[in-house]
Amino acid sequence: MGYNVYVTRRIPEPALVRLRSECEKVEVNPEDRSPTRAELLENVRGRDGILCMLTDTIDEQVMRAATSARGFANCAVGYNNIAVHKATELGLVITNTPGVLTDATADLTWALLLATARRIIESDRFVRAGRFREWGPMLFLGADVTGRTLGIVGAGRIGSAVARRARGFDMQILYCDPTPNEAIEKELGACRVSLDELLAQSDFVSVHVPLTDSTRRMFGAEQFRRMKRTAIFVNTARGLAHDEASLAEALRSGTIAGAGLDVYENEPQIQAGLAELDNVVLAAHIGSATIWTRTRMALMAAENLLAIVKGERAPNCVNPEVYDSLGKKQAK
Ligand code: DGY
Repeated sequence: MGYNVYVTRRIPEPALVRLRSECEKVEVNPEDRSPTRAELLENVRGRDGILCMLTDTIDEQVMRAATSARGFANCAVGYNNIAVHKATELGLVITNTPGVLTDATADLTWALLLATARRIIESDRFVRAGRFREWGPMLFLGADVTGRTLGIVGAGRIGSAVARRARGFDMQILYCDPTPNEAIEKELGACRVSLDELLAQSDFVSVHVPLTDSTRRMFGAEQFRRMKRTAIFVNTARGLAHDEASLAEALRSGTIAGAGLDVYENEPQIQAGLAELDNVVLAAHIGSATIWTRTRMALMAAENLLAIVKGERAPNCVNPEVYDSLGKKQAK
């Protein structure tokens, strides 16, 4: 007891109950928005640990402002919002929430893929506008999914779950990843190919890479040109993996047929002109947004935070090397 923690955004109640059961003070940002930079700098001061969101930039300044903190528990699987190397240098533990959001994110990927291929949003708008007068032989013709080729870029947990769902659609699976994924090769007959080959052969290209220096803007004009003109691009990972101006141009010019996006390069802003295009479906970064999943994520982040403040090894630490330096410091 006696721990004092800050939660940067309201999260599902069970996670707050869990934190309150072990901490003396659990302060939650009272606003229904991310804290401003000034609020963040002010509120991390004097806390034993912080539970933060992917929308909070946790850089050196914030880490140094968190004078008493032992670490930050991110309520997301991605942690590109945190300067992890700096945290390790400063002896701060960083955690994430892997696994619990895999299925929800894979489901949403498929929702976008199908909605784009079958023009569901366009059709919905048409019906709501009172323009649906009768069935038509040429009305909203879309792309076939069954039997087509799905290209998975990044075959980790979420990429593999997306590939598994393709079984029901009798699809051929190609994947591109620096590490071979024997499980999906054996289970699904997935074939590991180069990115260029994947782009040339896939009817659907789905992005599941973490955001790193090597994946930043990995989809630009050149990559869209290499795709089939009938292809559909789906990104539920991180918007910075694509160059959004080039994507909008590729959609406008017919270089590719469509896109389903859950993430944006300059989130929450979207590239000018994108919203006017009918061949793109736009979601609001809702990959993990189910009641069960967000509750699990928050509980996982809470458990991580409790371990951090107690000085125990946090279950989902992304910078485990920090414990070596912490151990050395304690041994001195
Ligand atoms: C994550 O966890 O990284 C997702 O983008 C949000 O759930």
